Amino acid sequence: MQNKKHFIIIGILILVVSVVTYYGILALNLLPVAAAVQSQPIDWLFDLEFKLISFFFAVIMVPLVYSLIFFRQKEGDDSDGPHVEGHTKLELVWTAIPLIIVIALGIIGAENLKQVLAVDPQAAQVKVVGYQWGWRFEYPEGFTSTKLYLPVDKQVLLKMESLDVIHSFWVPEFRIKQDLVPGQITEYRITPSLIGEYKVRCAEICGNEHAYMESPVVVVSQEDYVAWHDEQLRLAKEAELASAGKPDAGRGQALYVESGCKACHSVDGSKGVGPTWKALYMSSVPLADGTSVTADEAFLAESILNPSAKVVAGYNANAMPSFSYLKEGQVNDIIEYIKSLK
Ligand code: CUA
Repeated sequence: MQNKKHFIIIGILILVVSVVTYYGILALNLLPVAAAVQSQPIDWLFDLEFKLISFFFAVIMVPLVYSLIFFRQKEGDDSDGPHVEGHTKLELVWTAIPLIIVIALGIIGAENLKQVLAVDPQAAQVKVVGYQWGWRFEYPEGFTSTKLYLPVDKQVLLKMESLDVIHSFWVPEFRIKQDLVPGQITEYRITPSLIGEYKVRCAEICGNEHAYMESPVVVVSQEDYVAWHDEQLRLAKEAELASAGKPDAGRGQALYVESGCKACHSVDGSKGVGPTWKALYMSSVPLADGTSVTADEAFLAESILNPSAKVVAGYNANAMPSFSYLKEGQVNDIIEYIKSLK
């Protein structure tokens, strides 16, 4: 039985190639470290798919390469190959098996999604604001951070919104990805399980500086979180008190960096996404509607809180989000800083 021998050899080769391919994929270390409870079911599913991919790769490549080597046309043999006219049994088998696999994967995927979306009613909440091109994290206790601090082993519900276009919140170590859609609040639940520093990056092309739209995500112990949290509260109170007094250009300069103004407005006269702040105060600013306005304190404050009210000629109407989350004193600090840029 010459045929039987070929089948046995091919069978063994498929097994060997499957295993080698699977361990080859694992050796590539395609997945970053898993840092959340929700990463586990996703990685389990990835593993299952790596196994299936390895097996199907072998099932296709082994018979193909084997045939190329052992069933080559002999030198001088010009005769036709045997004429094969369908094979009902084979066709039933190769329809039924993939059908079963696909249905099984569907059921497994749904079960997996259920685990990933599991709700902990005790979950803390943080508001995530994405904009061109940065992230801001607003904590319910009333302070805002440019870093997302999270306590380990506690579920947090991120309520996400975009100020301009569609962005996507993605921390590869958490595995899950969720879009931020203008005019809508989307949710993202995560339970960090590994202390460390990660990075959220925007995973939806959103303009010129999409590639730089990233922020630190820091997972710390419960104690460190409480300490950080109290420190932020203290700083926020301090900043509010300080700003309530006399406006200060130094604080304004710090806000220029922390609040993200720096991403679009230069202070050296160069043109950015937005107009430069150099020599802006009390200058005459041409507007898109053909009129012009003097850049006094009222105009600057309005442009920070309601940027599209008066659009500067040559700039995009909805390019800038409102910074209305800033306290009145902070707006005055920023204006004081702009005044100092002669
Ligand atoms: Cu935001 Cu890409």
